[in-house]
Amino acid sequence: MSRHIVKVFAPASVANVAVGYDHLGFAMTHPGDEILVKTGSASGLVISKITGDRKQLSKVLAENTAGVSALSFLKDIGAEDEPIDMEIRKKMPFGSGMGSSAASAAAAVYAVSRYLRTGHSKRELLKYAVAGEQVADGAWHADNVAPSLLGGMVLIRDNEALDIVKVHVPRHITALVIYPHVRVLTRDSRAVLTSTVNFDDAIQQSANMGAFVAGMFNSDLGLIRRSLQDLLVEPQRKHMIPCYDEIRDLAYSQDILGFNISGAGPSMFALCENTLAVDNIKEGVARLYADKGVEVDMYDGPINLEGAIVC
Ligand code: HSE
Repeated sequence: MSRHIVKVFAPASVANVAVGYDHLGFAMTHPGDEILVKTGSASGLVISKITGDRKQLSKVLAENTAGVSALSFLKDIGAEDEPIDMEIRKKMPFGSGMGSSAASAAAAVYAVSRYLRTGHSKRELLKYAVAGEQVADGAWHADNVAPSLLGGMVLIRDNEALDIVKVHVPRHITALVIYPHVRVLTRDSRAVLTSTVNFDDAIQQSANMGAFVAGMFNSDLGLIRRSLQDLLVEPQRKHMIPCYDEIRDLAYSQDILGFNISGAGPSMFALCENTLAVDNIKEGVARLYADKGVEVDMYDGPINLEGAIVC
């Protein structure tokens, strides 16, 4: 029986990235969730402690993204009776659009695998993390979980098959995430989207997606900048985010690569090629939201290429 403790950090993530609704995401440097796993006192997996969740998360395995993620893996490898004690340290808010539930799901399965020394690759663990995240919004998509677990930017060609490809990240790209303190549940944010879109917009969006990915692989910042345009989702969701158009204009007044909603919102992200633009946007956003009485947190840093790590 293993008797060590494993602590794993999994980062927040930005899903959709303007052009790839449900199919594209990247990992942030911070914030992120932590999961601690050690030998339990009884047979089976138990979530013994959750902190940072303002008592909003359930310790019942089937109702918790981390619980489902870890348990589905344990069942698959025939280790569901292994006595395992799990502690969840939430370090980011729910309903923020930064992949909070995905980070817990990714950290949980990685922690359990490392604790039991199963030797599974992150790629092999991905399906369990996606199953965990599904608890949060009822949908099967890996655009938060995949980058949180694997790191970098990930394109999911097919969510069902989890046919994924890591996208090259050019050097010097900095990501800024702006989180205004309003809560938008992913479930609700998905419900506002129409199931049909304009044909011409769909064609243009697929061209933008292809060109964006090509721009990333070729480190062609001009192509990246021209491609990061969202014709499908941003117009339908931006009303849920305070002062969205003003923040967008403010961001585009700087020399940035792109700006859009992070995941299901209310967070927004900007991709920048220098930290001066990041500083200027942060200053402008802080002033604007202070005037409007909206609390805000902002996070910036390079795209996190590592994903979940034992720490
Ligand atoms: N692609 C998802 C959405 C990300 O935008 O609804 C949030 O889980």
